[in-house]
Amino acid sequence: MASVLVASNRGPLSYALAADGTLSARRGGGGLVSGLSAALAEQPDALWVCAALSDGDREAVRRGVFEPGVRMLALDPEVYDDAYNGIANSVLWFLHHHLWDVPREPVFDAEFRRRWESYRAYNRSFAEALAEQAAEGAEVLVQDYHLALVPGQLRELRPDLRIAHFTHTPWASPDYLGMLPDDIREELLWGMLGADELGFHTWRWASAFIGGAGIDSAEGVAQGFSPSGDPWRGVHHRREGGPKRSTRVRVHPLGVDADELRSLAHRPEVDERLAALRAEVGDRRTIVRVDRTELSKNVLRGLLAYRELLRERPEWHDRVVHLASAYPSRQDLAVYRAYTASVAELAEEINAEFGTENWRPVLLSVKDDFTRSLAAYRMADVALINPVRDGMNLVAKEIPVVSEAGCALVLSTRAGAYEELRGDALTVSPYDVSETARALHRALTMPPGERAERTKRLAATATALPPQRWFLDQLDALRG
Ligand code: F6P
Repeated sequence: MASVLVASNRGPLSYALAADGTLSARRGGGGLVSGLSAALAEQPDALWVCAALSDGDREAVRRGVFEPGVRMLALDPEVYDDAYNGIANSVLWFLHHHLWDVPREPVFDAEFRRRWESYRAYNRSFAEALAEQAAEGAEVLVQDYHLALVPGQLRELRPDLRIAHFTHTPWASPDYLGMLPDDIREELLWGMLGADELGFHTWRWASAFIGGAGIDSAEGVAQGFSPSGDPWRGVHHRREGGPKRSTRVRVHPLGVDADELRSLAHRPEVDERLAALRAEVGDRRTIVRVDRTELSKNVLRGLLAYRELLRERPEWHDRVVHLASAYPSRQDLAVYRAYTASVAELAEEINAEFGTENWRPVLLSVKDDFTRSLAAYRMADVALINPVRDGMNLVAKEIPVVSEAGCALVLSTRAGAYEELRGDALTVSPYDVSETARALHRALTMPPGERAERTKRLAATATALPPQRWFLDQLDALRG
């Protein structure tokens, strides 16, 4: 039985199945996975429950092969597809990022209801696995919008547990949330309110949750400070004559682990890529961006802003290169495939309009290549982070930590990171292409001393709450 449990859709490792039938485990990259793994390693009897995603994962479950401290759930592939692609990524992601193209979307019909049932069943599988594995009074930390119903379902199964849920995305504004059918919205909110503690990256998203919960569920909202002085807000609620309960809402702004990131960025393979990129870029300035090919990241308007910069300020011709990395994401969904294709198309249009024999204005890489991204981070003069809405955006925190000459940060007012970084960033509305183009010019012309000073402060803020500390703070809050 485990005394601390984490639940997330994507887990800390995945299995590869070789042609000869052997299975090998590979740990996932990224600061969050390594921070959480390190924090869990310090807890006695910790367990990470996650979904089996690859064929290798499902085979590992079938054979009963597990890494210590990890339990994978192999769900019916159709149920999983409906829950992950059909609801989590097509409905909840679009809801929380305000991405619907409203004249046509959303459509809540019989097909949606069928998928919602799968989403409920998928959450239920997690709740049951957690209930089965948790020791009396254990702490359970549930991650993200994939598992929003788990806290309520788990509380029904195991009222003795301490349950936290952390949302890594934004939370929809009350108005936008109100687009969901009433019963679904209530189920979603009551699912979340099954937790003792709810965490968000910023007060902007936490307040949106409290506002939305207030529509249906709240009997009152309270606020206070923990003994360490951190503020919390709370929602009192009572469901259908049940006992009165409270859920505390807190903000834990995830940061990056400076030592880990710097050591990753200085591995020999990154040095090699850096040398190759430097040879290609020459002595031109660089504007760097790294995203999943995700609609909320606003890559297209970022490219339009770069094009406007080149149109309005010809002095930058042949003096700047836009290094863009786009990791293909959720390619099972047509809307993501189309978005990825439009990004590549627009980059090519810009190259065709301005490029010369010696200068490619946009160097776009459409692949999951963290080595290239780290090399680009190191040579970034400007970082462009312009999402239309984003839970946090860790790239905005990573680039200042790694950039060698100091980089000027052009940052959307709607990124979660804006709350902490705005003082030293050049902030822009993500919809205002002209403002973004002007900010790029300002960033490119920022005096080196000012750039270095700002970068130093940005890096200090970015590393204030590294993943391991972020996790332990939540555990403390849950225990407190
Ligand atoms: O932003 C929310 C989030 O869950 C991130 O934590 C993660 O980077 C991303 O979405 C993962 O998306 P997916 O698992 O669909 O690739």
